[in-house]
Amino acid sequence: MIEIRELKKSFQGLEVLKGISLSIQDGEIYGIIGQSGAGKSTLLRCVNGLEAYDSGDLIVDGVRVDVREKASLRELQKRMGMIFQSFNLLERLDVYQNVALPLKFWGINPRSPESRRKIEDLIRLVGLEDKIHARPRELSGGQKQRVAIARALVLDPQFLLCDEATSALDPEITKGILALLQKINRELGITIVVVTHQMEVVKQICNRIAFLSNGKVLSEGKPEELFVMPTQEEIRQFLRDGSSLLPKSGVNVQLYFFDETSEEPIVTEMARRLGKNFNIVWAKLEDFRENVYGSLVLNIQEADVQEVGAFLDQNHIHWEVLP
Ligand SMILES: Nc1ncnc2c1ncn2[C@@H]1O[C@H](COP(=O)(O)OP(=O)(O)OP(=O)(O)O)[C@@H](O)[C@H]1O
Ligand SMILES: [Mg+2]
Repeated sequence: MIEIRELKKSFQGLEVLKGISLSIQDGEIYGIIGQSGAGKSTLLRCVNGLEAYDSGDLIVDGVRVDVREKASLRELQKRMGMIFQSFNLLERLDVYQNVALPLKFWGINPRSPESRRKIEDLIRLVGLEDKIHARPRELSGGQKQRVAIARALVLDPQFLLCDEATSALDPEITKGILALLQKINRELGITIVVVTHQMEVVKQICNRIAFLSNGKVLSEGKPEELFVMPTQEEIRQFLRDGSSLLPKSGVNVQLYFFDETSEEPIVTEMARRLGKNFNIVWAKLEDFRENVYGSLVLNIQEADVQEVGAFLDQNHIHWEVLP
């Protein structure tokens, strides 16, 4: 488990992390999302010791990591595999040798039978057994990221940190990489932290997320909670909620659907029961892992608000009148 408490970090007097607190549980896929410049990469680099933080605490499995202590820092880094947007493969080495690199770095013989087995198993895990002697330039972007993932796992890390790992890939390839990350999480029990500005990524794989804004955690929770019913204006904007395009006349009422209510034809039912017609002026459906969540905005007459509200309450639908 990774616990971050009041972490602060400045660059040349400019505070980039302004007291970040969050905790990442074992076995989770945890997402860190937010606008460019929010501090996501800096936070991740602090977590794996690539960057020293100024104040606060970083506690991994109950032990406080002292960033000035070289030995414990090295030990920390060994337990954290990391992958990046740019893959960072060595062009002069083939797939096998790239995956083997961290072993060499740690003074472990990459040619021992045990190492060989491990490297080959990982290359098979990421689905590149037929590319084992290919050079990076002979691989697609998605394949390169698979090599980087195998390399990040070769020291048996407890955590896998991903910084915009799919940002350079097209949507289909991204899906494959995300499925691979889920498999690694499930089958190897590795805790995964993904930093991304892509909403698709967190929707597809994250159990919990933190929304970072300007060096602070604006919101933390399940992705469906944050995305379907965003409470902060900045998160609404980030999701391009489209609320600004709503009609200026009448009253706009937003309905939120979770779980089993998401598929019930509640609006037609309400129209029939109340003998009124409603204008649906905005709607979206979001696919979160196994569940579909939805939200829609009805434009109704001022005089109907009470009746509509009562009907929605009776049917246990979350709703609010938009300003
Ligand atoms: N080494 C550095 N020296 C000076 N400033 C830095 C350094 N690294 C990051 N910053 C600044 O810190 C802020 C946060 O940067 P960071 O890379 O963490 O953002 P990010 O959320 O990862 O953004 P992006 O989505 O664009 O990757 C930015 O304003 C950036 O300019
Ligand atoms: Mg970044």
